[in-house]
Amino acid sequence: MRKTMGRGAVLAGLGVHLPPGVVTNDMLAEALDTSDEWIRTRTGIRQRHIADPGVGTGDLAVEAGRRALASAGLSTVDAVLLATTTPDQSCPATAPQVADRLGLRGCPAYDVSAACSGFLYLLTTGAALISSGLFETVLLIGADTFSTTLDPTDRTTRALIGDGAGAVVLRAGREGEDGALLGFDLGSDGSQVDLLVVPPRGHFQMRGKQVFTNAVIRMTESVERVLSGLGWSVESVNHLVPHQANARILAAVADQLGLDPARTITNIGDVGNTVAASIPLALAHGVREERLRPGDRVVLTGFGAGLTWGAIALTWPGISITA
Ligand code: UT7
Repeated sequence: MRKTMGRGAVLAGLGVHLPPGVVTNDMLAEALDTSDEWIRTRTGIRQRHIADPGVGTGDLAVEAGRRALASAGLSTVDAVLLATTTPDQSCPATAPQVADRLGLRGCPAYDVSAACSGFLYLLTTGAALISSGLFETVLLIGADTFSTTLDPTDRTTRALIGDGAGAVVLRAGREGEDGALLGFDLGSDGSQVDLLVVPPRGHFQMRGKQVFTNAVIRMTESVERVLSGLGWSVESVNHLVPHQANARILAAVADQLGLDPARTITNIGDVGNTVAASIPLALAHGVREERLRPGDRVVLTGFGAGLTWGAIALTWPGISITA
């Protein structure tokens, strides 16, 4: 599936926020039967940020949203969408409270739930709202406090997961300008829900090996569909920015695509798997490292519970972010 948009949806701002509390691998190893060596070699993760008790997804989302608005030089937008699997309450959605706290009371605001693919589902929805002519600007926030779903005694999931938030502003523009979102692919397979699930009143459960295999296949195929829809060669892609699940998964996706692994942008070592926040956190890392430059061809991809997956191609805009 590839959708071309009539007028362009253009990336105009980016902001991220991590809760200050850091849990290193050594700290995990004090409480669980694990080690820094095991976690680093099997996942590439050195540490993760974990929100303090009482700090919710909405709190992280507000900070990231504020920074994305500042990055875009905007104080108002036409809609606020939040991708999260850990909303502050099961009803209502968290987005209206986030919008209110950002001084955006009155604008349409709702949540999108697609787990680790959430940011890609969110970007696709936001781009469609703009290209349809319905809105001129949207604030899109991916935020999760997924650590709250974990079994405290489960060394595997606790090694992987961190909390965080990342946000972008999209504005109406032209498909030919830097920052335009150009190609989209989304998919799902609900028959495999058991691979990654938080059962009612239970903890997050994961079949790690099957998730690993599926993640590599689904992300690779999704990227290939987007590239073929646009007529872009793998060699012409400057940066691959995948959902940060496991450094070995990211390496395997680059390998399957035939892409130089040095073109993958990730900071999984510092943040772990932050679910819906994962891709914007990697984008912010790419901006800080001055790797993402205006006009660069960028492909985002992700995979997660559902199962869900997706990929989006864009050119990078000239934007800056606050610390
Ligand atoms: O939204 C979440 C998305 N989830 C993912 O993307 C996870 C995808 N899967 C993975 O990243 C990997 O499968 C894992 C990191 C979860 C596991 O890595 P693996 O290389 O597939 O290890 P494994 O499942 O083959 O486990 C090897 C051993 C097992 O012990 P036994 O059965 O061989 O005695 C595990 O119990 O490693 C053990 N193990 C650990 N040992 C130390 C699992 N977690 C840990 C740990 N520390 N944290």
